[in-house]
Amino acid sequence: MSHKKVAILISGGGSNMVTLVDSMTGDHPARPCLVLSNRTDAGGLKKAAERGIATAVVDHRPFGKDREAFETELVKPILETGADIVCLAGFMRVLTVGFVSQFEGRMLNIHPSLLPKYKGLHTHARALEAGDTRHGCTVHEVTPLLDDGPVLGQAEVPVLAGDTPELLAARVLEQEHRLYPAVLQRFAAGDRTPIHMS
Ligand code: GRF
Repeated sequence: MSHKKVAILISGGGSNMVTLVDSMTGDHPARPCLVLSNRTDAGGLKKAAERGIATAVVDHRPFGKDREAFETELVKPILETGADIVCLAGFMRVLTVGFVSQFEGRMLNIHPSLLPKYKGLHTHARALEAGDTRHGCTVHEVTPLLDDGPVLGQAEVPVLAGDTPELLAARVLEQEHRLYPAVLQRFAAGDRTPIHMS
């Protein structure tokens, strides 16, 4: 059986990337082919290299506001490695329709909220401000609208008395590390049935 090839895009420490890479073993239908970052200082790049995964960096800063020019460079290593699936994992750049449409139906993202609640940033603070008792994370297919595609999985956590955004983020991140590998394995096998973890 030939494995699906997975490119993972990161901007920071890459803890989600590490759990995805470490999950793709044995009879898992996919294997990592690339870890790509928009930041030269992304801590995840070293972790990927330590795991023998090809890495690349396309720094977004030289391109200023020209998103299309940045994405024209960003897409090159993804195409060169022949990725079948693209996983955004702590990737902090908004992607244009032009980029997203090249991977329609085969690009995933993990977002730290129970979508459709709290699209965008500062999700944990917003959940606390709203007085939510439940919070969590979502893996979804990436479509042109930000944080809006079909949900492939969600994991819930309780909001506890005295929670700060940092405490809540750490509790959610633990669940991200469970959810994303589970969703990717199912997705790579061609199964889009949503996964719910509570
Ligand atoms: C985390 O806040 C996570 O919720 C979101 O991206 C951030 C960094 O994740 N998905 P990672 O450790 O770089 O995977």
